[in-house]
Amino acid sequence: MKYKSQKVAYWFFALSMLLLSLQLIYGFIMGFAHMGFDGLHSIIPFNAARAVHTNLLVVWLLSGFMGAAYYIIPEEAEHELVSVKLAYIQLISLAVVGVIALVGFHLNYWEGRKFLEIPRPLDFLVVVNVLTFLGIIVLTLYKGKKRTTTSLVLTMGLVFAALLYLPGMIWFDNQTMDSFFRWWVVHLWVEGVWELIMGGILAFLLIKITGVDREVIEKWLYVIVGLTFISGILGTGHHYYYIGVGKVWLIVGGIFSALEPLAFLAMALFAVTMYRKGEKKHPNKIALNWTLGTAIVSFVGAGLLGLAHTLPGVNMYTHGTLVTAMHGHLAFWGAYAMIVLAIISYALPNLTGRKLFDTMTGQLAFWLSNIGMIGMTAAFGVAGVAQVYLERKVGLEFGDVQREIQPHFFVLVTCATLFTSGIILYIYEFIKYGRPNDEALVDQAK
Ligand code: HEM
Ligand code: HEM
Ligand SMILES: [Fe+2]
Repeated sequence: MKYKSQKVAYWFFALSMLLLSLQLIYGFIMGFAHMGFDGLHSIIPFNAARAVHTNLLVVWLLSGFMGAAYYIIPEEAEHELVSVKLAYIQLISLAVVGVIALVGFHLNYWEGRKFLEIPRPLDFLVVVNVLTFLGIIVLTLYKGKKRTTTSLVLTMGLVFAALLYLPGMIWFDNQTMDSFFRWWVVHLWVEGVWELIMGGILAFLLIKITGVDREVIEKWLYVIVGLTFISGILGTGHHYYYIGVGKVWLIVGGIFSALEPLAFLAMALFAVTMYRKGEKKHPNKIALNWTLGTAIVSFVGAGLLGLAHTLPGVNMYTHGTLVTAMHGHLAFWGAYAMIVLAIISYALPNLTGRKLFDTMTGQLAFWLSNIGMIGMTAAFGVAGVAQVYLERKVGLEFGDVQREIQPHFFVLVTCATLFTSGIILYIYEFIKYGRPNDEALVDQAK
């Protein structure tokens, strides 16, 4: 850590870990419900558990991205954050809005739009929160000595993510229109601007860990940003196939979304090439695992498993089934959960001055969580294909099919237990690092 104000990042990371733990509890509630053990139904029905699970995911990732920005921007811009106090207020208000939304979901205060369940009055609080965050980041960059490509790509991703939240706040009483703009948020986030956030954090980590020249690393970043925009914007069409808009989207969506894996492939090649090129062997092996891991697993989960159901002829059958959940899990895990866990693993030793970066616990956390998540993906995939066949080929009723596929959820819950043991170890390490302190204020940014 070079700048005192970077310590704010620690608390965003801590909030992130807390919300991740809660997210997993709701995952188990749904896993058991799918097995037929739905004892909590009257208190936490499936729809509430689902909304809580996915919204917690989004909030812990956003908290992780914000922490990443508060850590990275001072170091890249060579300037303290312009207001640490405001950053803490922003952290607390993020937590408060999160809690209100989550309690609300349990009381049936929600909008039935997947991923955008937060009721619109609360959206305005989210907007104020995010504007405060962006204000601090952009002003710090503005006042800083340097504006590196890495910091600009990261900031651009964050600013666009905020702007793209707005189409989800427009009110429509037409289902097609509502769906059309809902995807501007959901799709253009994960297959557009969040990729820039990921690319920015990845570039920062590779610069620090591999020691390869910034110029080389940042050249790759341009290629990734280019590929993301070329494919991702019109790729939105893969959500417009049968929602009541023009047929042209079948072709546009099919072609452009099939190109989307290229951006993730570039990211995987980028990370592996820089690792092999790098002469500096940074001692933080755990951060290195997560950094290479995120680049590779995101290519599989988002790129390959996305491609698996993106063509109209396939999506006609798989739409909205557990095949989507299969892809959703590995994509979110590989691209966004792992990049957050990577930056935390890199930042913790620097924030706290403790060098616990090559422990058995840390290695186990990485491998157990990844193997567990790959098993979960397989379980969702097998259940999904059986569901598609029974429901959409054979023509059985939805509920009857869900009963037929219950056994797959034993596998899911078993793998989720493995996954969760990994996460518990990760959080155990997080706690063992202790709080950030000023003694850690040395030049570790070599
Ligand atoms: C890290 C990037 C990605 C993440 C986090 C992600 C996550 C998700 C999630 C959560 C859904 C369900 C959304 C909903 O129904 O509201 C979804 C749907 C979908 N994704 Fe991705 N995705 C990513 C990248 C990709 C890519 C690159 C492709 C194509 C190559 C793709 C293809 C699809 C398709 C076709 C659907 C629609 C599924 C359906 O009709 O039910 N995704 N994705
Ligand atoms: C203990 C571990 C977990 C379990 C048991 C679990 C289980 C589930 C279940 C049962 C669903 C609902 C599927 C349905 O609609 O029927 C779900 C949805 C979802 N979960 Fe998890 N989950 C876990 C961890 C995670 C993690 C770590 C992530 C992200 C990194 C994640 C991302 C998602 C997403 C994006 C959806 C919505 C998928 C869609 O749109 O179809 N889950 N989860
Ligand atoms: Fe998409």
